[in-house]
Amino acid sequence: MRKDVRILLVGEPKVGKTSLIMSLVSEEFPQVVPYRAEEITIPADVTPERVPTHIVDYSEAEQTDEQLSSEISKANVICIVYAVNNKKSIEKQSNQPFTTFLSVLPSPYRVPVILVGNKSDLVEHSSMETILPVMNQYTEIETCVECSAKNLKNISELFYYAQKAVLHPTGPLYCPEEKQ
Ligand code: GTP
Ligand code: MG
Repeated sequence: MRKDVRILLVGEPKVGKTSLIMSLVSEEFPQVVPYRAEEITIPADVTPERVPTHIVDYSEAEQTDEQLSSEISKANVICIVYAVNNKKSIEKQSNQPFTTFLSVLPSPYRVPVILVGNKSDLVEHSSMETILPVMNQYTEIETCVECSAKNLKNISELFYYAQKAVLHPTGPLYCPEEKQ
C-alpha cells in the first residue's frame, strides 16, 4: 500500500490554483492569497482514501522552470488548472500550455493528470466540449472536473479524484500501446 500521495497543481498565472488550495483547507474562499501556498499535508484520517496527502502549489512568479520540473518529477498526480471563464485561455490550453506541461512529465513513468476548469461560478456553459479533444489526445489525462474556488463547488471532489487517480489508476487499461 502507498505511504502517501503528492498532488501538484500547475497552470497559467491567475487561474486560481492557490485559491483552490486555500478554499479546500479553510472551507471558505480567500479574498487575498499569496502567489504560492505553503505545502500542506492532510492527515490520513480526514482523507477519503485514508492516505496522508500532500498538496503542492506552483507559481510562475516565484518559481523557476527547474523548480517546476523538480516538483513535477516528485508528484504522484498533476492537476492542470485553467479558468473556464476565459474562452481564449481554454482554446490556448487545448494546445499549447497543456502540451507544455504534459511534455515535461517524466516519461515513460508518466503520472496521471487531471484537467481542472476553475471559476465555474463565472460561466453558464461548460468548457467540456473544448476540453474533450485534449482528453482524448493524452492517455495520461485521467479525468476532468469543473469547479469553483469561490463557491466551493467540486473542491473536495477534485482532491478526491486526484487521490483516487494515484491509488486506483485506470490509465493503463485505456492505453492502446499496452493492449497489444
Ligand atoms: P498565480 O499564483 O499567479 O499563478 O495565480 P493562481 O493560479 O494561484 O491564482 P489565484 O489563486 O491567485 O487567483 C487569481 C484570481 O482569481 C484572484 O483574484 C482570485 O480571487 C480569483 N479566483 C480564484 N478562484 C476563483 C473562482 O473560483 N471564481 C472566481 N470568480 N474568482 C476566482
Ligand atoms: Mg498562486
